[in-house]
Amino acid sequence: MKILVTGGAGFIGSNFILYWLKRHPEDEVVNLDVLTYAGNLLNLKEVENQQNYRFVKGDITDTAAVTEAMRGVETVVHFAAESHVDRSILEPAAFVKTNVLGTQVLLDAALKLGVKRFHHISTDEVFGSLELGSDQKFNEETPYRPCSPYSASKAGSDMLVRAYAHTYGLPVTISNCSNNYGPFQFPEKLIPLMLMNALADQPLPVYGDGLNVRDWIYVEDHCRAIELILAAGRIGETYCVGGHSEMANIDVVKELLKTLGKPERLIRFVKDRPGHDRRYAIDDQKIRDELGYRPAHTFEEGLRATIDWYRENEEWVRQVMDKEYQQYYQQQYGEKGPV
Ligand code: NAD
Ligand code: TYD
Repeated sequence: MKILVTGGAGFIGSNFILYWLKRHPEDEVVNLDVLTYAGNLLNLKEVENQQNYRFVKGDITDTAAVTEAMRGVETVVHFAAESHVDRSILEPAAFVKTNVLGTQVLLDAALKLGVKRFHHISTDEVFGSLELGSDQKFNEETPYRPCSPYSASKAGSDMLVRAYAHTYGLPVTISNCSNNYGPFQFPEKLIPLMLMNALADQPLPVYGDGLNVRDWIYVEDHCRAIELILAAGRIGETYCVGGHSEMANIDVVKELLKTLGKPERLIRFVKDRPGHDRRYAIDDQKIRDELGYRPAHTFEEGLRATIDWYRENEEWVRQVMDKEYQQYYQQQYGEKGPV
């Protein structure tokens, strides 16, 4: 089978390609990625010379590039996106262009080229925010109530995917997953950012009161869920995917410091994120019942593996914490980032 992965040089996309080629060596993978600040070909060093892997530099909003990359492809797995909430608050335009328009360009090409499966990677953030302390969880029937420019643009892309299925009969599946962490994650997101700061003995900037809750999933478990959906997911269906590790941000940060043997006095409470969603939680009974999904990693195991990976990959860390990263850090946090 020939698969087109979009955004395969990013965090989850590159983990997915490495996972897929290990488990499906008979398949061919084309990786279409424009290499924004978040895209990094170092992530794919292990497979870059393999016969059944090909990188194509291109933008998903570019019809010609997309059509060329999609030729002969049976399955599309669409990860490419602008993915960071804080950046979407600073500059929303790129989110609408890539996440909404880019998805529509891909859907159009998939329809014209007769792609057999279009799997769209989405997020639990499209459902909005839950009350702290309630026992409510998101599931496939939860109405969309996105609250940030990021989640609004992802919600727009999900709606387009559904519309192409409904109107033109495009064979699609969608997964809405919770917060991922693991190797190759860009250090703008909570876990790698706090890890980098802690290793450099710099303050750890916790937004607001630190009580916002996320459900953390080790990235390999997300890859496994996608594999299950591609193998046996029902066409036209959405699957919510969770990590079964709901935690307040402050507890994530404390666990990280404890594992590293660093003091809690590094924690600094800073100004809250505007419109900060309070709590996300996933009820993933559908994918558990239909496809036998279970996350294989506890948070403690996943965190230890993640810390080990960042410690063993200093060259990768040095490369991503470049000038652009320093500028972003200064703009977002009003001070110099760790070096
Ligand atoms: P990421 O920011 O690490 O990577 C995104 C990749 O997309 C990068 O390689 C980037 O170069 C590429 N890209 C961006 N714009 C592009 C364009 N116009 N054309 C081609 N390529 C482009 O993101 P991630 O964390 O790996 O997330 C991947 C997907 O998973 C996204 O769709 C995101 O919404 C979704 N998701 C992420 C999480 C999470 O916790 N990170 C959770 C649920 C869902
Ligand atoms: P993030 O990793 O940006 O994911 P998302 O906002 O998509 O869930 O943030 C996870 C949580 O951590 C979120 O509640 C915001 C919080 N956070 C901080 O407290 N400080 C930070 O520096 C960052 C990046 C996030």
